Amino acid sequence: MTARDSKPYERILISAERLAQTVKRLASELNTAYADTDNVLALVILEGARIFASDLLGQVHFPVQVEYLSASSYRGTTQSSGSIRLQGHLDLARKLRGRKVLLIDDIYDTGLTLAAVQDWLGICGPADVKTCVLLEKEITHQKQISIDFLGLSIEDCFVIGYGLDYQGRFRDLPFIAALAQ
Ligand code: IMP
Ligand code: MG
Repeated sequence: MTARDSKPYERILISAERLAQTVKRLASELNTAYADTDNVLALVILEGARIFASDLLGQVHFPVQVEYLSASSYRGTTQSSGSIRLQGHLDLARKLRGRKVLLIDDIYDTGLTLAAVQDWLGICGPADVKTCVLLEKEITHQKQISIDFLGLSIEDCFVIGYGLDYQGRFRDLPFIAALAQ
């Protein structure tokens, strides 16, 4: 067993309690922004945003249809590969026309993933697109993305937990932690 197996993280950056407070605050922001709005379609970017989106959408008071889109770029490393692969988007495209789309992702790192998804959304003809992201890394992003609802900013390190993985593992940690080097 390696050191990483016994303790995969070196430090907890955001506790479970702080995550819960953050999600509650974001839900309240969404409830204000979408009060009396129907036609909202939440587009959740898998796999990383699944847990966050589930907690978040459980606390909203407006009707929302939830759809999922798989986007990947990491391919098992801690660096973005630079090329983004979307899956499931072809069937989704026609559902998005005329909808108020709330894009939900786990983390704004390089911005390549959100840029690819937003570019693709642009050609689907939605009525509106707003973006909600749990975490933003404090770095110079390769692509500038406008985020309408942001949870927390974090320092530049690779994080795991609360849905975020390293090589498919550690999504189940209840907090956000810096991966052990
Ligand atoms: P970006 O394209 O570099 O902005 O990263 C987008 C995706 O990469 C996110 O939606 C995450 O799924 C994943 N990602 C980026 N940074 C991290 C991290 O620190 N830990 C785990 N996954 C990450
Ligand atoms: Mg992701």
